[in-house]
Amino acid sequence: MVKKIFWGITILGIGIFVIAAMSGCKEGPTGPAGKDASESTLEGFAPGIKCATCHNPDLDTTYRVLTKEVQYEASSHFEGGNFARNSFDCAGCHTNEGFLERYSKGFTNETFNPIAPSGPICNQGYPNASPPGCFTCHSPHSRANFTVRDSSVVNIFTLVAGQTTKQWNSSNASNLCVKCHQPRMTSTFMWKSGTTPASWQPDPSKTNTTDTAKIYTSRWNNHVSGEPTQTLLGFGGVEIPGPTPYNNSYHTTLVGMRTLGCEDCHMATVNSSNQNGGHTFWVRYLASGSTSPSYNVNGCNVTGCHSSSPVSTSNASDPHWAQVRNEIIAKTSQLASMMMDTTITKKWSLPQSGKAVPWVTLTASAVTGDSTWSANASSLQPLVIFPASKASALWNLQQIQYEKSHGIHNYKYVKALLDNSIADLNK
Ligand code: HEC
Ligand code: HEC
Ligand code: HEC
Ligand code: HEC
Ligand code: HEC
Repeated sequence: MVKKIFWGITILGIGIFVIAAMSGCKEGPTGPAGKDASESTLEGFAPGIKCATCHNPDLDTTYRVLTKEVQYEASSHFEGGNFARNSFDCAGCHTNEGFLERYSKGFTNETFNPIAPSGPICNQGYPNASPPGCFTCHSPHSRANFTVRDSSVVNIFTLVAGQTTKQWNSSNASNLCVKCHQPRMTSTFMWKSGTTPASWQPDPSKTNTTDTAKIYTSRWNNHVSGEPTQTLLGFGGVEIPGPTPYNNSYHTTLVGMRTLGCEDCHMATVNSSNQNGGHTFWVRYLASGSTSPSYNVNGCNVTGCHSSSPVSTSNASDPHWAQVRNEIIAKTSQLASMMMDTTITKKWSLPQSGKAVPWVTLTASAVTGDSTWSANASSLQPLVIFPASKASALWNLQQIQYEKSHGIHNYKYVKALLDNSIADLNK
């Protein structure tokens, strides 16, 4: 039986607990959570709601709640474990309770400031937190259905000089996803925190040798949360001038037309091997008994997308899968290797021992497997790069690594970032 920590109940035991719950429950407000967001609120019941639509001991045919639960329990939302990131600056995306606080305050009131804690920030930490779950993304009791909790448009910030905020406004579901899958503005490397000075803002125009970039943190990036969304919108990388133009794939056009959202690919029809698509949110998964990954591409092969020549993950020359991914993986690893090559790095980084320079967490070693260096950039040991624009390649390497789709999100943009970063390091 799947371990349940969330609501502390099983649907099978529903008959008994519904009676108990009903006797203890008054009809609550149907609107957003009240002022005291320190406790998880279930937001009361809609008038006339029929409990058995969802909690029926015999049949679960309307919403297949039990199935969704089992899928959800295989998702990173439930099992990723990072809901322990429950302080005021993390809880807004990492916990159900923090997200509900943001919802009750109104997402449209969130503002962004790159040099101060801002954006998805909570008034308090939530030590008794739960991971993002059914009631985070839906409000099934107050609405008596599973519509997404909030589908308002979202501003997606960028920390790159010269770029401006873009709006994510696609499907209702994806407008929900990007309320958390956006850059972490609650802490950025651009504000001075404690004794750590502000780090360099990535800026492709600072090409003079007197322009020096100092990086004081190993978190010189958008957290892992912003990159897929920025990439789909076609920005967020440092657009170094170079041989390959910065264009976008058709996916970006479709996002702009509001016809493609995260859920189309990440909540696709579940494959027979079960732990993929749907409420697992996984494209990549391990089929039972297998140690190499499989991919659920049901979302690609639908009418209007790739149905006439379906994407196949087993065809080694599939132009929309293997070819794209192999090319991006090879170029990512080439870029990472160049940044571990002391004959290249000593031209523009201090200390000139190259690989030994304090680097950004895991970035290059994760791709090249080279972990002969382990120091992280810090206030005592900053990574110093001159001209500062040479830091762009390091930014782009992280942007591409944390974009996590090997170019599927937006092949043309990712390829341009890679080609032009490699060309710049070859200069
Ligand atoms: C639209 C679907 C839906 C309807 C209708 C519904 N529920 Fe639920 N309810 C859920 C879901 C989903 C959960 C979370 C299940 C889980 O994660 O195990 C839940 C959880 C609960 C819980 C557990 C909360 C906790 O804190 O442990 C109780 C109690 C509950 N429902 C009572 C009711 C009662 C009583 C009614 C009718 C007045 C009702 N529900 C109607 C979907 C629904
Ligand atoms: C309440 C904030 C929130 C919302 C809304 C949200 N996510 Fe997430 N998502 C997270 C967090 C936090 C993690 C990491 C969980 C962990 O590590 O504990 C995550 C992890 C993931 C992962 C796994 C990443 C990995 O490589 O491990 C995928 C895929 C994902 N989310 C997709 C989605 C999609 C698609 C949607 C919209 C349907 C969505 N998320 C909505 C917060 C959210
Ligand atoms: C803007 C929403 C948001 C905020 C604020 C946020 N996170 Fe996250 N975080 C995410 C999402 C989304 C993921 C999963 C992304 C993925 O894996 O693709 C994640 C993943 C993580 C991970 C797992 C991946 C990794 O880097 O090892 C850790 C750890 C983490 N966050 C720590 C924190 C901490 C600590 C804070 C507060 C200082 C914080 N997060 C604030 C959205 C956020
Ligand atoms: C990270 C956000 C997220 C979480 C957590 C989540 N859902 Fe959903 N759910 C969605 C989105 C987004 C959709 C709509 C998908 C679409 O538009 O294709 C959806 C759709 C549904 C539907 C289908 C609605 C319909 O009318 O057919 C059901 C049922 C559902 N969710 C139940 C659940 C249950 C039960 C849980 C908890 C076990 C849960 N969801 C947790 C995001 C979430
Ligand atoms: C066109 C299809 C498509 C869309 C739209 C899409 N993704 Fe992805 N995504 C992928 C593919 C393919 C992968 C690669 C899976 C792999 O190699 O692990 C991926 C990987 C990811 C991962 C790593 C976890 C995983 O499933 O492997 C995260 C996190 C992620 N995407 C987030 C998002 C978010 C957030 C959105 C919406 C803003 C989004 N994606 C929209 C196709 C898509």
